[in-house]
Parts: sequence; C-alpha cells; structure tokens
Amino acid sequence: MLTDPFGRTVDYLRISVTDRCDLRCTYCLPKGFKGFSIPKEWLTIEELGRVAAAFARLGTKRFRLTGGEPLLRKGLVDLAAEINRQSGVEDISLTTNGTQLDKHAHALRQAGVRRLNISLDSLRRDCVTNITGSDCLPQVLDGIKAAKEAGFERIKINMVPLKGVNDMDLDEMVAFCMEHGFILNLIEAMPMGTTGQAHAKVSLQPVLEELRQKFDLSPFEGKSAAVRRATGKAKTTVSLSA
Ligand SMILES: C[S@@+](CC[C@H](N)C(=O)[O-])C[C@H]1O[C@@H](n2cnc3c(N)ncnc32)[C@H](O)[C@@H]1O
Repeated sequence: MLTDPFGRTVDYLRISVTDRCDLRCTYCLPKGFKGFSIPKEWLTIEELGRVAAAFARLGTKRFRLTGGEPLLRKGLVDLAAEINRQSGVEDISLTTNGTQLDKHAHALRQAGVRRLNISLDSLRRDCVTNITGSDCLPQVLDGIKAAKEAGFERIKINMVPLKGVNDMDLDEMVAFCMEHGFILNLIEAMPMGTTGQAHAKVSLQPVLEELRQKFDLSPFEGKSAAVRRATGKAKTTVSLSA
C-alpha cells in the first residue's frame, strides 16, 4: 500500500492526460499562454496504462482522468478500459469541459467510467462565451445530455462563481441540476498567478447563506457546507469546494 509521510493510506490517483485545452477560461489560463509541453515528451496511452496498473498493484482504488481537457487526448477510452481491467479498482471518474462529450459519453461509460464532473459556469450562451473564449454552450449541453443518457452513476456540474460575471446565475444552475438529478459543485476561484485577477473573488460562505434563504438546506455526506434542497419532489445537492 502507498502511504504518505504521516502514515495515511493513499488510494486515489488523478492522472492529467494532457495539458492542452480547447477552451481559454479567464480564471484558468493566462492570456496568450504558450508554455504547453511538446507531444514527444508525453507518456503514450500505453505508458499511462502501465503507470495506472502499477498504482493499482500498490492499492490505488480510485482514479480520476483530467487535464487540460482529457477528451482531446486520443485513446482516452482505451486508457479508461485498461484501468478498469486492473484488479482492486473500484472507481474511475473524469473531469471534462464537455465540448467533446456527446461523441464519447457512451464509450466512456462502457469502458468503466462511473462518475463525471462537467464544467459549466452558466446557462447563458454569451456568458459562457465570455468566460471560455468559445461559443461552446450548445455543444456542452449536447455533451451533458449524452452523459445523462449514457447512465453515469453520478454527474457533478462544476461551476466557478465570479462576481458580476455569473454569480447571478446560481439559482438557474441549482434549478438545472435539480431538474436533471445532477450535483452542483461550486468551486471558489483560486488565484493562479496573474490569471483572473480582473475577477473579484466570490466567497462561497455568503453564497451558502443566500441559498439558505431560498431552499431547505441540510448537511450532506459529512461535508461542512454541502446542502440539499428537499422541498417537493425535486432534489439536488450543492457542494462547495474552496
Ligand atoms: C482545470 S479543469 C481540467 C478539466 C477539464 N478541462 C474541465 O474543464 O473540467 C478542472 C476544473 O478546475 C476548475 N478551475 C480551473 N481554474 C480554476 C481556478 N483558478 N479556480 C478554481 N477552479 C478552477 C475548472 O472550472 C474545472 O471545473
């Protein structure tokens, strides 16, 4: 088993399969960033599979595939299937911006991916274009629809609330997740160098208080600020990550 210097067991591995992304989110990538790695330095999909297998032998049970945008990497479905073949692996999840998901959702599910995090900061097309630098909302919504149809065990929508940019969309995002049975995962914007300095940080505790005015909230899965609306039939869970 892998343990850290404090004796804690490590059974979770995130694999970043590429540093490339088809979006340029204002809070994520510096404008005009050119420092991407060169393809000949990348581990091949087969090598990533061997690394994952080695970790599985050391007791890693949960894997997350991420990036950059992982669905830009050819062979990702094969990598998921290879991880799924390893004994002891209990969970494979994927974090994606959803632009390529309509093409791959079904195959990913078949390959053994159980859970998805899909990044979506607004349901307003111009707002998404403004944040990501790409008019991608229709494509992302197609991807989300395909993911729902493919039957993943859990779909989380990752939203980074930004003051005056998309923080007015929170109620609509809660309603969207409620309608579709998704979890809304609110991520506090992290300062990354000079990137996103134009955005005033939205602290999530006041957001939680605002939601408390509108919805019935109750603790969920032991997370300090996770909430659930349980009035009427519709339910969603809102989790906050800082
Ligand atoms: C870096 S992306 C990589 C995976 C994939 N391309 C995606 O968009 O989900 C993973 C998550 O990190 C979030 N993220 C990126 N930069 C961030 C920042 N500065 N603060 C908080 N969250 C950030 C994104 O919104 C996304 O939900």
